[in-house]
This record gives sequence, structure tokens and C-alpha cells, in this order.
Amino acid sequence: MRILSGIQPSGKLHIGNYFGMMQPALELQQQGEAFLFIANYHALTTVNNGDVLRQAAFDVALDFLACGLDPQKTVFFRQSDVPEITELTWLLSVVTPMGLLERCHSYKDKLAKGIASSHALFSYPVLMAADILAVQSNVVPVGRDQKQHVEVTRDIAIKFNNQYGEIFTIPEPSIRDTVAVVPGIDGQKMSKSYNNHIELFGSEKETRARIMRIVTDSTALEEPKDPSECSIMALFRLVAPPDAVKEMEASYRAGGYGYGTAKKALFEMVWEYFMPFRQKRAELASDPAAVEEILQRGAKRARAEAAATLEKAKRAMGLL
Ligand code: ADP
Ligand code: TRP
Repeated sequence: MRILSGIQPSGKLHIGNYFGMMQPALELQQQGEAFLFIANYHALTTVNNGDVLRQAAFDVALDFLACGLDPQKTVFFRQSDVPEITELTWLLSVVTPMGLLERCHSYKDKLAKGIASSHALFSYPVLMAADILAVQSNVVPVGRDQKQHVEVTRDIAIKFNNQYGEIFTIPEPSIRDTVAVVPGIDGQKMSKSYNNHIELFGSEKETRARIMRIVTDSTALEEPKDPSECSIMALFRLVAPPDAVKEMEASYRAGGYGYGTAKKALFEMVWEYFMPFRQKRAELASDPAAVEEILQRGAKRARAEAAATLEKAKRAMGLL
């Protein structure tokens, strides 16, 4: 089984990204031949400063390697190092009906958020189809917001195959519904666009300050509290061992336990949970050339796959 997923380097990663996307994708490394990439062409639709994008792509590489991406097992690369993907995008765009793209929620949502409309933003799903089809991926692990894009990929692949012969594998999305949406410090979905996030590798001071700002209800310290309705508890469950979770739930129910104390305990747990990753990240950051070499090795393997697919498609279309 071949698995492919990507993430845009459009900002610092947060613990919502970790539990919602990175951890499930990293677990899939054990289950098949995994391809994971940094979608910097996609990020161009929202990041318009070269230095910022270059740094963000490198930071994402460090983040994934620090969190357990095994470059011996997983093909890890930067999208822009595989030019076959953009060449394939044009071939796919030929069989992509306008209506298919016009129906995409993500495009409409981005416009509503004030992102400038551009041809790239509109055709974003065709580039994503090329990412997936270039390596003939069977499974695409994504968050719920990306499911429609994988369905568009399927439609494009089916249409291409009907017209030109069996060139592409038809992929399936894999949605992890068991991972609840990670709440941010204001109780909404954690997202960098709401600025309610807790960075994965923020400083100790910033991480503590953000956690101490988590919004709670106004139940008095001595009153019992409901552990099922609280963002502190929801985050604590992600990072704490089961015994510690039970203990905190019991303290909530008993009363005489304040939110401030719970936040301090949460900070300690978050800091400890990501400590080994933080240490690994610092080691990796001290040798950027080694990280670059991993990405170049990954790109070479991805290019070999993508070039073989591209050749088949070009031959079928009368280009070779
Ligand atoms: P953001 O909302 O911060 O811009 P992205 O949209 O770039 O995050 O998401 C990247 C990946 O992380 C996606 O696969 C998405 O489903 C996942 N993700 C983002 N925020 C959360 C969250 N709060 N809970 C669970 N998964 C999340
Ligand atoms: N569009 C995805 C996101 O915003 C990132 C992405 C780009 C991707 N290409 C992909 C995900 C291919 C899976 C497969 O999160």
C-alpha cells in the first residue's frame, strides 16, 4: 500500500496540527510505503515573502523529523524539488471541468477569509491531484477539511483514465474521525488563523503564558467543576498518562480545585510531553546540511516515481 500526505509550510506548527495530522501520518509509516512532503507550491497561494517561505519550509522539515519521521522508511521531500508534479498539473488540468473546481468549499472559505483570489488559489486542487497521482498513491490521510480535494483527485483520475487508458491509481481518502478537533485557548478549533494556538516548539515562557490564558467558565474555586466541558481537560487528555487524567477529573468533580492549578499542571505535562522532540529538534537544527541531504534524497526517490508516471501520461496524450 502506498500512502501520501502533505502539509503546507504556512506558519509555525501547533499542537492541533500535531494530534490532528502529524501523529496519524507518522503512525502510517509502519503500515505501508509512505511519502510525506512539504507543500511549498501550495503555500505560495498565501505566503508572499521568499525568505519567510524558505524558512517555514525548513522549520516544517525540522518539526517532522523531530517528531519521529523516519527518513529511512518514509520518502520525505519538498514539493518544489519535484518539478514533474507541476508538469503533471497541466496535463491533469486539461481533463478538469471548471464546475468541479467551482464547487470546492476550501476555495470559497479562503475567499471569505480575505485571501486574494488568484488562478493558483482556484486551481489548488489540481496541483494537489498531481501530488497524489504522481506517486500512484492508494491512501491519502487528511483532515476532514481536505476530503473534498481527494474526491476531486479521484474524479480527475477517473476522467483521465477513461479518456487515455489506465494510467492512474484511484486514491482513497483516510480520515481519522477518532481524533477530536483539538481546542485552542479560546475554546474554538485550534488554528493559526484564529491566533488561539499553542506552538509545538514555542519558548517555555510563551507556552506557559498561552496556557495560562485558556478561557474557562467562572465557576468559583471551591465549587465542583465539569471535566467534560473544559478546554484545559481536553488538552490534558492528549498529553497526560491515564492515571493523571483520572486524578484531575476527580479533583474537578470534588471542588476546591481551581482552573489556575489545572493550567499549571497542563503546562508541566505539555512541556514534558514534547521535551524529547524538542531535544531532537535542537540537534537537527545544529546540522542544517544533514536535514537538506535528507530532503534531497527524498526528492530523488519521489522524482523517480513521478517521472515514470509523467512519461506514461505524456505518451498516452501524444506528447512523446
Ligand atoms: P491551521 O488551521 O492552523 O491553518 P492547517 O489548516 O494548515 O491548520 O492544518 C494542517 C493539518 O492539521 C490539517 O490536516 C488539519 O486537519 C490539521 N489540524 C489543524 N488544526 C487542527 C485542530 N485544531 N485539531 C485537529 N487537527 C487539526
Ligand atoms: N492541501 C493540504 C492542506 O492544506 C496540503 C496538501 C497539499 C496535501 N497536497 C497534498 C495533503 C496532497 C494530502 C495530499 O492541508
